[in-house]
Formats: sequence, structure tokens, C-alpha cells
Amino acid sequence: MSMLLSPVQIARLDLKNRVVMPPMCMYEVKSEDGLPTAFHHAHYGARAIGGVGLIIQEATAVEPDGRLTKHDLGLWNDAQGEALSHLVEELHAFGAKVGAQICHAGRKAADALEPLAPSAIPYNDSFNDPIQMSMDDIVRIKAAFVAAAKRADAAGYDMIEIHAAHGYLINQFFEPMTNQRTDAYGGSLENRFRFLKEIIEDIKPVFAKPIWVRLSVSAYDETGLQNTIEDYQQIAKWLEELGVSCLDISTGGLLPRRPNIPIYGGYQAGFSAKIKEAVKLPVTAVGLLHSPELCEYLLQYQQADLVQVGRGLIGNPNWPAHAASVLHDHDYVIYNDSYARGLAK
Ligand SMILES: Cc1cc2nc3c(=O)[nH]c(=O)nc-3n(C[C@H](O)[C@H](O)[C@H](O)COP(=O)(O)O)c2cc1C
Repeated sequence: MSMLLSPVQIARLDLKNRVVMPPMCMYEVKSEDGLPTAFHHAHYGARAIGGVGLIIQEATAVEPDGRLTKHDLGLWNDAQGEALSHLVEELHAFGAKVGAQICHAGRKAADALEPLAPSAIPYNDSFNDPIQMSMDDIVRIKAAFVAAAKRADAAGYDMIEIHAAHGYLINQFFEPMTNQRTDAYGGSLENRFRFLKEIIEDIKPVFAKPIWVRLSVSAYDETGLQNTIEDYQQIAKWLEELGVSCLDISTGGLLPRRPNIPIYGGYQAGFSAKIKEAVKLPVTAVGLLHSPELCEYLLQYQQADLVQVGRGLIGNPNWPAHAASVLHDHDYVIYNDSYARGLAK
């Protein structure tokens, strides 16, 4: 049986395979209340029936002004936690493990009138100018992450992922181009890491299950002002010391720039391998991993421990069955006999 589709105990999770659905915002909360809709049940349910081992729910805001847009899911109140618990229960019934990506968009909160950021540096003209966070803001937003984690625990999620990538608030703290603070949260790499460090330290007592962190290890900047891969290896080591269970490695999003790295199947996997060199923690690879052979290769050659299939799963909720067919994985079990009649090759 392939490594991709074999059961595995990893990152303190029992997974039926190594196929992870990465967080992908669907902007389907039309009522702007952060509550899941019929769409979310159908959308995630289809991928659970399709055989995904771990579904990481889209960026879910820790406070209203932390949303990417007002159509995002939220975990800033108990009604949202209660509603999401039914989604989690449903996905568990279909055999998937489920996580929530908790997020604050910072200066990239498109609908916030006064977005907050480490420093008052705008993203671009289409976003409102951000306000530099005061100490009170720092304390309040850390508490919002902790409260969201507590609700995720009560809702039955198997893990949470802290969104520290793609130019959202925590990523803004990491990077010198977006963090020009002169207090304990700016300056050295250690200071720029402090906001996330304190969030994790505060979450651990209320969330005993696995905590993952998503990082953007390249900002696509060519001025030499961004963190280097060595800086991110250091951050990875600090995250390992803090007891994080897995690192989810991505790139980009900090600046309104097109990727300046070549884009091809597995284009970010080299960054995952670089982070893997620095830590013993499991590391995921993501980015145009549509090819099951490429996924299997990355796992077999220890370039990554889990693979995430995003757009591939939007296009085909039954991607795991497709992978089984491509990899000649005759032991792979499709959800039920009726589905097998449509999917088995
Ligand atoms: C529609 C869409 C929404 C996304 N939303 C999120 C998100 O909420 N959080 C996040 O960390 N990444 C988000 N991403 C990035 C994906 O998680 C993934 O890293 C990226 O699409 C590359 O993987 P792929 O080539 O398999 O799609 C999104 C991507 C897409 C296509």
C-alpha cells in the first residue's frame, strides 16, 4: 500500500491516510455572523466522504475585525462554537479528523474600518490604513486566540492550526518590513516572534490537543529586508521547543507581489524540506501537489511527512480515490460500495 494512503500516527493524530485538506476560505458566510451554513456542511462533508484523512477548516477569525472578509467563519462567540461542533461531529462520522485554522488578518482585514497591525504600514490602496497595536490591543488579541482555541476544544476539533502565514497578523509581527516596533514585540527576531510565542504559551493550558503552525517562509521580497530561510529555521526550532506538533510550510502573502519563485507541481516542497532539516517535528508540504506520484515521492524521500491538496480537492472531492487508482493502491477502501461503483478503476 502507498505511504500516501496508509494509516499513520503522526503529529499526535491517528490519521487514516496522509492526505490533508489545507485551510481554504470559501467566503460563504453571507449573513456576516461567522456561523457555518449548509454550504460548509456540504463542502467539507463531501471531502470527508471523499476520504481525506485530515480536514483543516478555512481561516476562522478570532474576532470580527480579524476576518479576511466579513464572509469568513468565526470562533469569537459561543454560538459559533456550538454551530461548528455539529460540523465537526458530522465530519467525524464520515471518518475524517478535523482541525480549525484560527486567524487574525491584521492589516489585511478587508472589511475592517480600522484594521490593526504591528506597525501603521498599509498593505496596499484597497485596504484601510492600519493602526499600530497598543499593548492593550496585544493583550486583547492574544486573549481572543486563547478563547477561540478553548471553543475549538469544546467543539471537538482534533487539532488547531495557528495561521502565522500569508501576511496575516502573526506573519506581520515576524517580518521587519511590517513590524517596525521599538518595544518588546519588535526589533530582534526573538522580539518579533514574541507575539506568537505568548499566544502558544497561553493556548497550551486550554487546548491539550495538537497545535500546528502555518508559516510563510518566503515573502517574495527582493530587497533583502525579509526574514531569511535561516530565520525561519530558527522560528521552527523555537516552535518545536514550545511543543507545537507540526509545521505547515507555505510561502508568500506578506506583500502585494507576484511570486518570484518558479511555480510548478510541488513548488513549495523545497521550503518544507529546508524546515525539516532544522527540526524533528513533522512538516507538511503544500502547493500544486495534484500528482499522487509526486506526493508519494515526497513522502518516500522524507521531504515532507504529510501532503496537503488544496485546489486539487476543490476540483475533485474524491481525490484520494483518484490517488489510489494512479498509485495502483488496490487496498484503498472507497467510502461505500455505491461510491466504489463510480470511482473504482
Ligand atoms: C480558495 C482558496 C482559499 C484559501 N484560503 C486559505 C486560508 O483560509 N488559509 C490558509 O492558510 N491558506 C489558504 N489558502 C492557501 C491554501 O491553503 C494552499 O496553501 C494553496 O492553495 C496551495 O495549495 P494547492 O496548490 O494545493 O491549492 C487558500 C487557497 C485557495 C485556493
